[in-house]
Amino acid sequence: MIKKIAVLNGDGIGPEVTSQSVNILKAIAEQYGHQFEFKYALIGADAIDKTGNPLPTETIDICLDSDAILFGAIGHPKYDNDPTAKVRPEQGLLGLRKALQLYANIRPVTTYPTLHFLSPLKSKNIEEVDFVIYRELTGGIYFGKKTLSDDGQTASDDCAYTKTEIERVAQLAFKAAQQRRKKLTLVDKANVLETSRLWRKIVQEISSQYSDVTVEYLFVDNAAMQIILNPKQFDVILTENMFGDIISDEASVISGSLGLLPSASVGNRTALFEPIHGSYPQAAGKDIANPIGSILSAAMLLDHLDLKAEAALVRNAVAWTINNKFVTKDIDPINFYFTTTVGELVIDFIKKNFAERIHDENIELRKSTII
Ligand code: IPM
Ligand code: MN
Repeated sequence: MIKKIAVLNGDGIGPEVTSQSVNILKAIAEQYGHQFEFKYALIGADAIDKTGNPLPTETIDICLDSDAILFGAIGHPKYDNDPTAKVRPEQGLLGLRKALQLYANIRPVTTYPTLHFLSPLKSKNIEEVDFVIYRELTGGIYFGKKTLSDDGQTASDDCAYTKTEIERVAQLAFKAAQQRRKKLTLVDKANVLETSRLWRKIVQEISSQYSDVTVEYLFVDNAAMQIILNPKQFDVILTENMFGDIISDEASVISGSLGLLPSASVGNRTALFEPIHGSYPQAAGKDIANPIGSILSAAMLLDHLDLKAEAALVRNAVAWTINNKFVTKDIDPINFYFTTTVGELVIDFIKKNFAERIHDENIELRKSTII
């Protein structure tokens, strides 16, 4: 199989985690006789520095001409601390979502028994947690009209949704629920917001097409609490853009580290795969960032290309590294492995030469032990 993959490294730790995923995709291609052609393009603060534009036209063209996009991270502190900045790295990602009509952002939340100790929740509450968030990604308050009055005293952000925008992401979420444990929870604020009442009405209508799926409705404030109190109850969560942004970061801590979670953004054009973590500038260039969120995003990319066995192998390799405590500093601050070493170990597993190397002093040597 020949596939074109656009690689958008972006900012901070984006380049270093993405390069692990690219190496892993190369190993998969070799193992299974595929040909992946990687094309690099600029985005975010990196693109602003080099071109003045967080989303150069060339980047959109490369993405549109690809079969999938592997995305790193976006954001830089120099913009975060300057609310007056007119050009911002995030505009690159938001613009790309809009240009590619990536209307559904899919964020699976899974846990690893060996990492339960890292979670702020009690072990008994996180065993068997396995849910997925379907977040609407190209509408709502993120993309509504924004105003700032001339005197700088009043600002507004409109939140608008159309029936079509709700329907298309809801359809995907219902289909996912059918393939899973057949439960869908719509998270909204229908006691206050008109847009939420429209979400509820449309989801109620669609639910009649999916009689095997049980639908529940939760207000977002309650949902935020339930995710901490009893995360096991969830299967598929469907929600609008802003609520999805907030609860997916919240849900990520259940796994123990934000660095572990992947995501897929899909729509009418090329799909995009990215870890849910941000650019983590403090760790950039230190070879300490957790590459697993990106590597699992690459697994979602393989699934999307219908390479199911390949995707499963990457996930097994990741589980093997975690179970053997080949983990980065965010997970084990004392006995940790470097970003590149974790990537290499995943490749070793894929190439099935881990058996020799696991006892190899090489691995020990590359472990960073702070005593
Ligand atoms: C995310 C990020 C983005 C968002 C930012 C970087 C614009 O937080 O992908 O969740 O808010 O959507
Ligand atoms: Mn976010």
